Amino acid sequence: MRIAITTPTGNIGRSLTKRLLDQGGHDLILLARSPDKLKQEQPRGAKVAQGDLEDAVYVKKATQGADAFFFLCPPNFGVPDYRAYYGELAKAGADAVKANTIKHTVLLSSVGAHLPEGMGPILGLHDAEKIFVQATQGLTILRPGWFMENYFWQLEPIKHMNSIFVPLSGDVTAPMIATTDIAERAARVITGPAASQPKIVSLHGPKDYSMDECAKIISQGIGKEVRHVQITSEQAKVSFLGMGATEGVAEAMLEMYAAFQAGKLKDEVPRSPDTTTPTTFETFVKDVLAPVLRG
Ligand SMILES: NC(=O)c1ccc[n+]([C@@H]2O[C@H](COP(=O)([O-])OP(=O)(O)OC[C@H]3O[C@@H](n4cnc5c(N)ncnc54)[C@H](OP(=O)(O)O)[C@@H]3O)[C@@H](O)[C@H]2O)c1
Repeated sequence: MRIAITTPTGNIGRSLTKRLLDQGGHDLILLARSPDKLKQEQPRGAKVAQGDLEDAVYVKKATQGADAFFFLCPPNFGVPDYRAYYGELAKAGADAVKANTIKHTVLLSSVGAHLPEGMGPILGLHDAEKIFVQATQGLTILRPGWFMENYFWQLEPIKHMNSIFVPLSGDVTAPMIATTDIAERAARVITGPAASQPKIVSLHGPKDYSMDECAKIISQGIGKEVRHVQITSEQAKVSFLGMGATEGVAEAMLEMYAAFQAGKLKDEVPRSPDTTTPTTFETFVKDVLAPVLRG
Protein backbone atom coordinates (compact mmCIF):
# COMPACT_ATOMS: atom_id res chain seq x y z
CA MET A 1 0.00 0.00 0.00
CA ARG A 2 1.24 3.48 -0.88
CA ILE A 3 0.86 5.79 2.13
CA ALA A 4 1.53 9.55 2.03
CA ILE A 5 2.49 11.08 5.39
CA THR A 6 2.67 14.78 6.29
CA THR A 7 4.97 16.19 9.01
CA PRO A 8 7.29 13.14 9.13
CA THR A 9 9.80 15.18 11.16
CA GLY A 10 7.24 16.05 13.86
CA ASN A 11 6.23 14.26 17.06
CA ILE A 12 3.44 12.15 15.59
CA GLY A 13 4.57 11.97 11.96
CA ARG A 14 8.05 10.67 12.83
CA SER A 15 6.72 8.02 15.16
CA LEU A 16 4.05 6.98 12.63
CA THR A 17 6.67 6.72 9.87
CA LYS A 18 8.92 4.57 12.07
CA ARG A 19 6.07 2.23 12.95
CA LEU A 20 5.12 1.74 9.31
CA LEU A 21 8.74 1.16 8.29
CA ASP A 22 9.12 -1.36 11.14
CA GLN A 23 5.99 -3.17 9.93
CA GLY A 24 7.33 -3.27 6.38
CA GLY A 25 5.37 -3.85 3.22
CA HIS A 26 4.33 -0.21 2.76
CA ASP A 27 5.45 2.24 0.15
CA LEU A 28 5.88 5.52 2.06
CA ILE A 29 5.86 9.03 0.59
CA LEU A 30 6.99 11.58 3.17
CA LEU A 31 5.86 15.18 2.58
CA ALA A 32 8.64 17.21 4.17
CA ARG A 33 10.30 20.59 3.83
CA SER A 34 13.75 19.28 4.77
CA PRO A 35 14.73 15.83 3.45
CA ASP A 36 18.01 16.20 5.41
CA LYS A 37 16.06 15.60 8.62
CA LEU A 38 14.96 12.16 7.36
CA LYS A 39 18.37 10.48 7.18
CA GLN A 40 17.21 7.33 8.97
CA GLU A 41 13.97 6.92 7.04
CA GLN A 42 15.25 7.27 3.47
CA PRO A 43 17.74 4.37 3.53
CA ARG A 44 14.86 2.23 4.85
CA GLY A 45 12.93 2.86 1.64
CA ALA A 46 10.79 5.90 2.42
CA LYS A 47 10.67 8.42 -0.43
CA VAL A 48 10.61 12.13 0.31
CA ALA A 49 8.52 14.57 -1.69
CA GLN A 50 10.08 17.89 -0.74
CA GLY A 51 7.82 20.89 -0.33
CA ASP A 52 5.66 23.06 1.87
CA LEU A 53 2.13 22.14 2.95
CA GLU A 54 1.10 25.74 2.28
CA ASP A 55 1.63 24.97 -1.44
CA ALA A 56 -1.57 23.27 -2.61
CA VAL A 57 -0.11 22.35 -6.01
CA TYR A 58 2.78 20.56 -4.31
CA VAL A 59 0.48 18.64 -1.93
CA LYS A 60 -1.63 17.45 -4.85
CA LYS A 61 1.41 16.34 -6.83
CA ALA A 62 3.13 14.65 -3.88
CA THR A 63 0.07 12.54 -3.09
CA GLN A 64 -0.60 11.31 -6.63
CA GLY A 65 -1.04 7.54 -6.61
CA ALA A 66 -1.41 7.31 -2.82
CA ASP A 67 -3.84 4.73 -1.44
CA ALA A 68 -3.87 6.36 2.00
CA PHE A 69 -3.00 9.76 3.45
CA PHE A 70 -2.12 10.91 6.98
CA PHE A 71 -2.74 14.64 7.27
CA LEU A 72 -1.73 16.92 10.16
CA CYS A 73 -1.91 20.72 10.27
CA PRO A 74 1.51 21.75 11.61
CA PRO A 75 1.60 24.48 14.25
CA ASN A 76 2.83 27.90 13.16
CA PHE A 77 3.16 30.73 15.70
CA GLY A 78 4.15 33.19 12.96
CA VAL A 79 0.83 33.50 11.15
CA PRO A 80 -1.59 36.38 11.77
CA ASP A 81 -4.68 34.17 12.08
CA TYR A 82 -4.25 30.61 13.39
CA ARG A 83 -7.76 29.51 12.46
CA ALA A 84 -7.50 30.75 8.89
CA TYR A 85 -4.04 29.17 8.51
CA TYR A 86 -5.23 25.71 9.56
CA GLY A 87 -8.24 26.12 7.26
CA GLU A 88 -5.98 26.86 4.27
CA LEU A 89 -3.73 23.89 4.99
CA ALA A 90 -6.74 21.61 5.39
CA LYS A 91 -8.17 22.82 2.10
CA ALA A 92 -4.91 21.98 0.31
CA GLY A 93 -4.94 18.51 1.92
CA ALA A 94 -8.60 17.81 1.19
CA ASP A 95 -8.29 19.09 -2.41
CA ALA A 96 -5.40 16.67 -2.94
CA VAL A 97 -7.45 13.77 -1.58
CA LYS A 98 -10.29 14.64 -3.92
CA ALA A 99 -8.13 15.23 -6.99
CA ASN A 100 -6.22 11.98 -6.46
CA THR A 101 -9.29 9.97 -5.31
CA ILE A 102 -7.43 8.76 -2.22
CA LYS A 103 -9.77 6.30 -0.58
CA HIS A 104 -8.40 6.27 2.96
CA THR A 105 -7.48 9.38 4.98
CA VAL A 106 -6.54 9.93 8.61
CA LEU A 107 -6.83 13.53 9.83
CA LEU A 108 -5.17 14.57 13.09
CA SER A 109 -7.53 16.88 14.97
CA SER A 110 -7.93 17.64 18.67
CA VAL A 111 -10.07 17.30 21.73
CA GLY A 112 -12.53 20.21 21.63
CA ALA A 113 -12.71 20.31 17.81
CA HIS A 114 -16.45 19.63 17.92
CA LEU A 115 -16.97 23.06 19.51
CA PRO A 116 -17.65 26.02 17.18
CA GLU A 117 -16.32 28.89 19.32
CA GLY A 118 -14.03 29.95 22.13
CA MET A 119 -11.37 27.30 21.53
CA GLY A 120 -8.49 29.34 20.05
CA PRO A 121 -6.33 27.34 17.59
CA ILE A 122 -8.62 24.32 17.93
CA LEU A 123 -11.21 26.24 15.90
CA GLY A 124 -8.87 25.77 12.95
CA LEU A 125 -9.14 22.01 13.46
CA HIS A 126 -12.92 22.33 13.82
CA ASP A 127 -12.88 23.86 10.33
CA ALA A 128 -10.35 21.30 9.05
CA GLU A 129 -12.64 18.45 10.11
CA LYS A 130 -15.53 19.98 8.19
CA ILE A 131 -13.39 20.58 5.09
CA PHE A 132 -12.17 16.97 5.07
CA VAL A 133 -15.63 15.53 5.76
CA GLN A 134 -17.01 17.38 2.74
CA ALA A 135 -14.18 16.49 0.38
CA THR A 136 -13.10 12.97 1.22
CA GLN A 137 -14.30 9.43 1.51
CA GLY A 138 -12.85 6.83 3.88
CA LEU A 139 -12.06 9.46 6.55
CA THR A 140 -11.02 8.81 10.15
CA ILE A 141 -10.51 11.82 12.41
CA LEU A 142 -8.27 11.41 15.46
CA ARG A 143 -9.10 13.70 18.39
CA PRO A 144 -6.29 13.37 20.95
CA GLY A 145 -6.13 15.17 24.29
CA TRP A 146 -3.31 17.32 25.68
CA PHE A 147 0.12 16.18 24.48
CA MET A 148 2.59 15.16 27.20
CA GLU A 149 5.22 16.65 24.84
CA ASN A 150 3.84 20.12 25.69
CA TYR A 151 6.18 19.91 28.69
CA PHE A 152 9.05 20.43 26.24
CA TRP A 153 8.00 24.10 26.27
CA GLN A 154 9.02 24.08 29.94
CA LEU A 155 12.57 22.70 29.69
CA GLU A 156 14.34 25.93 30.64
CA PRO A 157 12.00 26.86 33.54
CA ILE A 158 12.28 23.30 34.89
CA LYS A 159 16.06 23.29 34.56
CA HIS A 160 16.79 26.75 35.89
CA MET A 161 13.80 27.78 38.04
CA ASN A 162 12.42 24.43 39.26
CA SER A 163 9.06 25.63 37.96
CA ILE A 164 6.45 25.01 35.28
CA PHE A 165 4.68 28.21 34.20
CA VAL A 166 1.19 27.74 32.74
CA PRO A 167 -1.93 29.96 32.81
CA LEU A 168 -3.91 27.19 34.51
CA SER A 169 -4.51 26.41 38.17
CA GLY A 170 -2.86 23.33 39.63
CA ASP A 171 -6.15 21.48 40.03
CA VAL A 172 -7.10 21.67 36.33
CA THR A 173 -7.05 18.20 34.82
CA ALA A 174 -6.43 17.06 31.25
CA PRO A 175 -6.54 13.78 29.34
CA MET A 176 -2.78 13.78 28.69
CA ILE A 177 -1.48 11.56 25.95
CA ALA A 178 1.97 10.59 24.67
CA THR A 179 2.33 11.32 20.96
CA THR A 180 3.74 7.80 20.42
CA ASP A 181 0.31 6.48 21.43
CA ILE A 182 -1.37 8.77 18.88
CA ALA A 183 1.04 7.50 16.22
CA GLU A 184 0.30 3.91 17.23
CA ARG A 185 -3.43 4.46 16.68
CA ALA A 186 -2.81 6.36 13.43
CA ALA A 187 -0.72 3.42 12.17
CA ARG A 188 -3.40 0.95 13.16
CA VAL A 189 -6.15 2.95 11.46
CA ILE A 190 -4.23 3.71 8.27
CA THR A 191 -3.23 0.08 7.72
CA GLY A 192 -6.75 -1.14 8.47
CA PRO A 193 -9.92 -0.82 6.39
CA ALA A 194 -11.06 2.69 5.45
CA ALA A 195 -14.12 3.95 7.31
CA SER A 196 -17.32 3.66 5.29
CA GLN A 197 -18.44 7.04 6.65
CA PRO A 198 -16.49 9.73 8.56
CA LYS A 199 -15.40 8.25 11.85
CA ILE A 200 -14.15 10.10 14.94
CA VAL A 201 -11.66 8.40 17.25
CA SER A 202 -11.07 10.15 20.57
CA LEU A 203 -7.79 9.46 22.36
CA HIS A 204 -7.57 10.28 26.05
CA GLY A 205 -4.23 8.98 27.33
CA PRO A 206 -4.11 6.63 30.33
CA LYS A 207 -6.07 8.95 32.68
CA ASP A 208 -6.76 12.61 33.40
CA TYR A 209 -3.84 14.25 35.24
CA SER A 210 -3.95 17.49 37.18
CA MET A 211 -1.25 20.09 36.60
CA ASP A 212 -0.05 19.64 40.21
CA GLU A 213 0.11 15.87 39.73
CA CYS A 214 2.27 16.29 36.63
CA ALA A 215 4.67 18.58 38.52
CA LYS A 216 4.91 15.92 41.25
CA ILE A 217 5.59 13.13 38.74
CA ILE A 218 8.25 15.25 37.01
CA SER A 219 9.83 15.97 40.42
CA GLN A 220 9.99 12.26 41.21
CA GLY A 221 11.28 11.43 37.75
CA ILE A 222 14.15 13.90 37.73
CA GLY A 223 14.98 13.83 41.43
CA LYS A 224 14.37 17.48 42.32
CA GLU A 225 11.27 19.39 43.33
CA VAL A 226 9.49 21.21 40.51
CA ARG A 227 6.40 23.37 41.14
CA HIS A 228 3.43 24.07 38.90
CA VAL A 229 3.01 27.86 38.89
CA GLN A 230 -0.17 29.46 37.57
CA ILE A 231 0.77 32.58 35.64
CA THR A 232 -1.62 35.34 34.57
CA SER A 233 -2.92 35.70 31.01
CA GLU A 234 -0.76 38.81 30.64
CA GLN A 235 2.36 36.88 31.63
CA ALA A 236 1.42 34.02 29.32
CA LYS A 237 0.94 36.46 26.46
CA VAL A 238 4.41 37.92 26.99
CA SER A 239 5.75 34.35 26.95
CA PHE A 240 3.94 33.43 23.70
CA LEU A 241 5.14 36.64 22.03
CA GLY A 242 8.66 35.76 23.21
CA MET A 243 8.30 32.37 21.51
CA GLY A 244 7.63 34.18 18.21
CA ALA A 245 3.84 34.23 18.30
CA THR A 246 2.02 36.98 16.47
CA GLU A 247 -0.57 39.00 18.38
CA GLY A 248 -3.33 36.90 16.77
CA VAL A 249 -1.75 33.57 17.72
CA ALA A 250 -1.03 34.74 21.29
CA GLU A 251 -4.67 35.79 21.71
CA ALA A 252 -5.87 32.47 20.27
CA MET A 253 -3.66 30.53 22.70
CA LEU A 254 -5.03 32.57 25.62
CA GLU A 255 -8.58 31.81 24.49
CA MET A 256 -7.77 28.10 24.48
CA TYR A 257 -6.22 28.20 27.96
CA ALA A 258 -9.20 30.20 29.28
CA ALA A 259 -11.58 27.53 27.92
CA PHE A 260 -9.44 24.89 29.56
CA GLN A 261 -9.43 26.68 32.92
CA ALA A 262 -13.21 27.14 32.72
CA GLY A 263 -13.73 23.41 32.10
CA LYS A 264 -15.13 24.02 28.61
CA LEU A 265 -12.33 22.33 26.66
CA LYS A 266 -13.65 18.80 26.97
CA ASP A 267 -14.26 15.96 24.59
CA GLU A 268 -17.80 15.20 23.54
CA VAL A 269 -17.40 11.52 24.41
CA PRO A 270 -16.44 10.14 27.82
CA ARG A 271 -13.32 8.07 28.45
CA SER A 272 -13.71 4.41 27.56
CA PRO A 273 -11.36 1.44 27.11
CA ASP A 274 -11.11 2.36 23.41
CA THR A 275 -10.14 6.01 24.05
CA THR A 276 -7.66 5.08 26.80
CA THR A 277 -4.05 4.71 25.66
CA PRO A 278 -1.23 2.98 27.55
CA THR A 279 1.71 5.35 28.09
CA THR A 280 1.54 6.87 31.57
CA PHE A 281 2.94 10.28 32.44
CA GLU A 282 5.46 8.53 34.70
CA THR A 283 6.73 6.51 31.73
CA PHE A 284 6.82 9.59 29.51
CA VAL A 285 8.90 11.45 32.11
CA LYS A 286 11.30 8.52 32.60
CA ASP A 287 11.78 7.65 28.93
CA VAL A 288 11.38 10.99 27.15
CA LEU A 289 11.44 14.12 29.33
CA ALA A 290 14.10 13.22 31.89
CA PRO A 291 16.74 12.18 29.30
CA VAL A 292 16.24 15.51 27.48
CA LEU A 293 16.47 17.45 30.75
CA ARG A 294 19.68 15.60 31.63
CA GLY A 295 20.95 16.77 28.23
N1 LIG B 1 -0.10 20.12 21.65
C1 LIG B 1 -1.25 19.55 22.00
O1 LIG B 1 -1.54 19.35 23.17
C2 LIG B 1 -2.23 19.16 20.92
C3 LIG B 1 -3.40 18.51 21.28
C4 LIG B 1 -4.28 18.10 20.27
C5 LIG B 1 -3.98 18.34 18.94
N2 LIG B 1 -2.82 19.00 18.62
C6 LIG B 1 -2.51 19.23 17.20
O2 LIG B 1 -1.42 18.39 16.85
C7 LIG B 1 -0.71 18.97 15.77
C8 LIG B 1 0.78 19.00 16.11
O3 LIG B 1 1.29 17.68 16.03
P1 LIG B 1 2.84 17.37 16.31
O4 LIG B 1 3.15 17.75 17.73
O5 LIG B 1 3.11 15.99 15.88
O6 LIG B 1 3.55 18.39 15.35
P2 LIG B 1 5.02 18.93 15.47
O7 LIG B 1 5.91 18.00 16.22
O8 LIG B 1 4.94 20.36 15.90
O9 LIG B 1 5.51 18.81 13.97
C9 LIG B 1 5.13 19.60 12.98
C10 LIG B 1 6.11 19.34 11.83
O10 LIG B 1 5.55 19.96 10.70
C11 LIG B 1 6.58 20.42 9.87
N3 LIG B 1 6.07 21.64 9.25
C12 LIG B 1 5.79 22.81 9.85
N4 LIG B 1 5.28 23.68 8.97
C13 LIG B 1 5.25 23.03 7.78
C14 LIG B 1 4.85 23.41 6.46
N5 LIG B 1 4.37 24.64 6.22
N6 LIG B 1 4.97 22.50 5.48
C15 LIG B 1 5.47 21.27 5.71
N7 LIG B 1 5.87 20.85 6.93
C16 LIG B 1 5.76 21.74 7.94
C17 LIG B 1 7.78 20.68 10.75
O11 LIG B 1 8.85 20.08 10.13
P3 LIG B 1 10.16 20.82 9.62
O12 LIG B 1 10.40 21.99 10.52
O13 LIG B 1 11.17 19.73 9.74
O14 LIG B 1 9.86 21.22 8.23
C18 LIG B 1 7.46 19.92 12.06
O15 LIG B 1 8.37 18.87 12.30
C19 LIG B 1 -1.31 20.35 15.54
O16 LIG B 1 -2.25 20.29 14.51
C20 LIG B 1 -1.99 20.62 16.86
O17 LIG B 1 -3.04 21.55 16.75
C21 LIG B 1 -1.94 19.40 19.57
